[in-house]
Amino acid sequence: MGLFNGQVAWVTGAGRGIGRAAALALADQGAAVAVVSRTQNEIDRVAAEIISRGGRSIATILDVSNWAMVEWAATQIEQALGPIDILINNAGVLDPLGKLWETDPEEFGRSIDINLSGAYYCMRAVLPGMVQRGRGVIVNISSGAATSTSPGWSAYAASKAGLDHLTRCLAVDLKGTPIRTYALHPGLIETKMQAALRSATDDQLPPAWRQFFLDQQQAGKIFSTDVPARAIAWLASPRCDLDNGATIDLRMQPEYIEKIDRALSA
Ligand SMILES: NC(=O)c1ccc[n+]([C@@H]2O[C@H](COP(=O)([O-])OP(=O)(O)OC[C@H]3O[C@@H](n4cnc5c(N)ncnc54)[C@H](OP(=O)(O)O)[C@@H]3O)[C@@H](O)[C@H]2O)c1
Repeated sequence: MGLFNGQVAWVTGAGRGIGRAAALALADQGAAVAVVSRTQNEIDRVAAEIISRGGRSIATILDVSNWAMVEWAATQIEQALGPIDILINNAGVLDPLGKLWETDPEEFGRSIDINLSGAYYCMRAVLPGMVQRGRGVIVNISSGAATSTSPGWSAYAASKAGLDHLTRCLAVDLKGTPIRTYALHPGLIETKMQAALRSATDDQLPPAWRQFFLDQQQAGKIFSTDVPARAIAWLASPRCDLDNGATIDLRMQPEYIEKIDRALSA
């Protein structure tokens, strides 16, 4: 018996990286999973992988920064799989990198549109149904960048700080309902986004800061995508015992990794 049998999950940015691993983890626990991103062949592959393991899945092309598309996608998903019980707001972009006064204003706006407004749009699309049905969980994939300052990624850090606070604000709005929401800082995870940090140019990230990511890789301190995927499954499950609106950081609070493994294998 899986933790999510009979439930429907929607994972954004699920074509690769953390989103892909989360989609597979939720499906392995019985959820029917809608995988979305802007790259058709990547989401098709993930949906096919879920189906080949005996699960249910659909792949829907979506740019989360477009409210009309988000509304359309939510309707398509619910028609195909049923009411959405679990939303994983994982889609995210790193750019623009560089000193704040050298970044492209349009790219700054794009970062906020995807990392912050995109998450809001997906919440906005699913919450009326969740509140009406009296069930649902929303997990927002944020970042340690939300609470630390590092040179060269102001747009990313500001968008993720906004996402953490949006999560707390939503929890206050949800008071009196059984709907839960959390933010997750996954730590340093081996994905295309992490590789982009290691190969950033000098005008994007100071060499010492780029070296930090290379050193972390050489020291084996970059987690595989399975680590945040298990955390996402735990947060979405009834076994999660956090206060509503909480944020956890797997790098700064590694004790959660063991706790999550224990809770999931119980
Ligand atoms: N890797 C890390 O070390 C790390 C650390 C902290 C936080 N995070 C967060 O974890 C999340 C996943 O990152 P990742 O490392 O797995 O990165 P990734 O491999 O680059 O994956 C990002 C995913 O988001 C999708 N995406 C980007 N823009 C989108 C849009 N407008 N609409 C829909 N989908 C979109 C991408 O697909 P398309 O480009 O095809 O749309 C891709 O599927 C992000 O929110 C990131 O900020 C990652």
